[in-house]
Amino acid sequence: MSNDNLIYAKSRILDILSELDDFELDNISQWMCSHSYRKDLEEKKCMNISEKYLKDIGNTIKAMVPFEAEMSSENIVPPTIGDQADCNAINTCHIDEFLYDEDEVCELVTNGKFNRHYCLECNSRNTKELILISHSMSRKSLLYMFRVLLPKDLEDKQVLDVGSRLGAVLYGAYYFSNAGSILGVEMNKDCCEIQERIITQYSMDNNRIKVIHSDILKRSDVVQSADVIIINVLDFFVDIEIHKQIWYFFKKYLKKGTYLVCNRSMADTLGYLDMFEEFMNWLSICKPGQLENEIFFDIDEQSELFLYTVN
Ligand SMILES: C[S@@+](CC[C@H](N)C(=O)[O-])C[C@H]1O[C@@H](n2cnc3c(N)ncnc32)[C@H](O)[C@@H]1O
Repeated sequence: MSNDNLIYAKSRILDILSELDDFELDNISQWMCSHSYRKDLEEKKCMNISEKYLKDIGNTIKAMVPFEAEMSSENIVPPTIGDQADCNAINTCHIDEFLYDEDEVCELVTNGKFNRHYCLECNSRNTKELILISHSMSRKSLLYMFRVLLPKDLEDKQVLDVGSRLGAVLYGAYYFSNAGSILGVEMNKDCCEIQERIITQYSMDNNRIKVIHSDILKRSDVVQSADVIIINVLDFFVDIEIHKQIWYFFKKYLKKGTYLVCNRSMADTLGYLDMFEEFMNWLSICKPGQLENEIFFDIDEQSELFLYTVN
């Protein structure tokens, strides 16, 4: 590290320390002086290495899919109920968070390849921010899911991603956890082919990670054997009736004790579908399984992930 870099690093540390009160400062001093921060630093570096695998995979997928990462074989329709019911073709844009993180989106905007705004009246400055949606989970969310939210040891567990799309959750489970079995069920064939290609290209152990091309409603067997089930919001992919059916199906087949991870609270999802009362006693909300790792994350950013167990 050059002298300039060292000065810059110290200056950044001082910026952070200057915002702390005496109690917080004492706590940080102890953490540094006891050298326990070294162990945390090693863990942080390991996480960065695992995250790099996912970044490389994302870059490989970018070359396989259109920029908007939606297939011509898909029928993606803005929902008519819920917190995304205001989305439409004019005010909404899909930018896949697994493929493009916040820094990459900024770079696209700077290079004029992506716009965050749309014009309300041509040639005027009367513009409005686009609603940005993502059909995939981001690397950061996946890291948080497997390194903070879920229990650490998943070795003899089966992880199931419902609607695995480009495979983001599957690769997250593969590189961020020790899950013994990782299954994705996806109804779109083109998406399944992308996942298969990535699994092969990155020489992943296909005894450990598998993709099934199917409607989840036809695979009660995999739902019954899942120990952890991950469900990203399905609103853009299913109509209200099918969405309700899916939740009745999970209620019927998920076994007691199964972990359920969602990126919207179940109270909201079931509330929008007008079926919350029927499901009230089905799930319990859980505390994160690896609270000691919260230190590696900006908790506010991850507040959209929810962990439940089936009662
Ligand atoms: C929001 S994306 C989630 C992608 C991925 N799980 C993630 O979080 O990165 C939802 C996916 O579910 C798939 N899907 C919707 N309904 C399904 C069903 N009944 N069976 C299987 N896949 C389904 C869609 O094709 C879409 O790719």
